[in-house]
Amino acid sequence: MSSEEIRAAWPMRVGIVQQQDVSTARVRVVFPDLDRMTSYWLPIVVQKTQDDKAYWIPDIGEQVVCLMDAHYEAGAVLGAIYSQADATPVASANKFYLGFKDGAAFEYDRAAHVLSITFEDGGEIIYDAGAHQLTISCPAGDIALETSEHKTTIDTIIDTYNSHVHPDPQGGDTGAPSQVIA
Ligand SMILES: [Fe+2]
Repeated sequence: MSSEEIRAAWPMRVGIVQQQDVSTARVRVVFPDLDRMTSYWLPIVVQKTQDDKAYWIPDIGEQVVCLMDAHYEAGAVLGAIYSQADATPVASANKFYLGFKDGAAFEYDRAAHVLSITFEDGGEIIYDAGAHQLTISCPAGDIALETSEHKTTIDTIIDTYNSHVHPDPQGGDTGAPSQVIA
């Protein structure tokens, strides 16, 4: 079949993102099996654009599925697809997963009832609804807390507790607590 016949017969085609317009959420796509034809700017189909808005731009080189008109002049990018080169990050029908290039990820496992949000520096927010335990972990830094009355950090609270003393009725102050928070 000629390229023209292929285009007319099959309006959906896999292309490779060549250029991004991040302000209008459009990309130009190369179609390797149509003599490397480059599309005009194609809008990316997202879930919401009016009152609520979703935004995520396919990367340069990303393999995307496009729906094109018969002349391949107008069309839209429906989404990206996995391939041998771009493997799936998880393999489970029970998981929802969003992962990012820097290593950060958002995952929910409906079978284990665990929500985990992980960050590039090792920070984690994990809720395990099976164990009923929320873990907030910031191994490289501190955890800030802010209320209408106080602005402090977990380190400040623990350091204050561990080193606090009381006035001693026999004079001076008592020593620091015998039990400290590790
Ligand atoms: Fe005390």
